[in-house]
Amino acid sequence: MSQPTRQTRLAPADPRAIAEAAACLRAGGLVAMPTETVYGLAADATNDRAVVAIYAAKGRPAFNPLIAHVADAAAAAREGAFDDFARRLAEAFWPGPLTIVAPVAPSCRVSLLARAGLETLALRCPDHPVAQALIAAAGVPLAAPSANRSGRVSPTTAAHVAADLDGRIDWILDGGPARRGVESTIVACLGGRPRLLRPGALTRERIEAALDVALDDATPGGAPLAPGQLASHYAPRARLRLGAHEVAAGEAALDFAGALAHAGATARLDLSPAGVLEEAAAHLFAYLRALDDSGAARIAAAPIPERGLGVAINDRLRRAAAPRGEEA
Ligand code: TXA
Ligand code: MG
Repeated sequence: MSQPTRQTRLAPADPRAIAEAAACLRAGGLVAMPTETVYGLAADATNDRAVVAIYAAKGRPAFNPLIAHVADAAAAAREGAFDDFARRLAEAFWPGPLTIVAPVAPSCRVSLLARAGLETLALRCPDHPVAQALIAAAGVPLAAPSANRSGRVSPTTAAHVAADLDGRIDWILDGGPARRGVESTIVACLGGRPRLLRPGALTRERIEAALDVALDDATPGGAPLAPGQLASHYAPRARLRLGAHEVAAGEAALDFAGALAHAGATARLDLSPAGVLEEAAAHLFAYLRALDDSGAARIAAAPIPERGLGVAINDRLRRAAAPRGEEA
């Protein structure tokens, strides 16, 4: 399907730009907004045509549902039927980088297209003043996937959004670099024990401590419970080699804590010279894009510890390294 050209306005997210962007959302437009995790491509989640335009702008397969962004837990409870676990999670972690999947509530206004026809709905209350202001001014839940072309890494700056979506969306609100740098953690509360569908910016350890219960895992080998979690979702153009200890000739280096022997690297970035996982997460997608843009055909990535935020970082790195063509 060809995508009509749009005049994209990029501006610092000051009150005036936010008000204009909110008016654009109410009229069915597409607005890229900063959140604490990554930039999202927002549209009125109750407007079928606006939701269709998100899928078209991203080139996203229509079977992959969107997260509805809401102001608070009360707004979420109008859209999704929260059980006790979901209520406790919202209480403990909202606003914040946690998405809760719940059964659709009878009063749900979110378009069936945004839900990809599912009887469940993903809800998130972002911890970012611009996203919060936009949701409040729009007055409706905002469907917002990450603001990248489908199959590319998520954007953590307004410039990344422009590189992927300029001419395809109406607004880009620049709120500076995303603080967390990896997407929200997704937990399904659909009866029984809550299930971890996507590791993300909120660690499993913190969720389990708050609930005092072990999270179930997404069924291994089964149909993806978060349909967007297909192997090569976060793909740079360059081939990525994981767990590397030294760089081969012609490779670029994605280092962590200075662990990579990088003589001969065509380019080198260290996710966190001090070995701090929070810092590594915040740099991950920007550094993948930068090394990709350096023209390297291959990127060697240092090992990242598989604990805390390292679980989400390794998940994104594995997807970026997966063979292409696994995403429709
Ligand atoms: O941090 C984030 O979550 C960012 C910011 C913009 O909020 N958003 C984001 O959206 O990462 P997206 O569309 O790139 O990823 C959303 C994931 C997809 O894997 C999708 O399949 C899954 O959420 N999802 C959405 N609705 C679902 C549902 N009802 N059940 C299971 N998974 C769902
Ligand atoms: Mg995404």
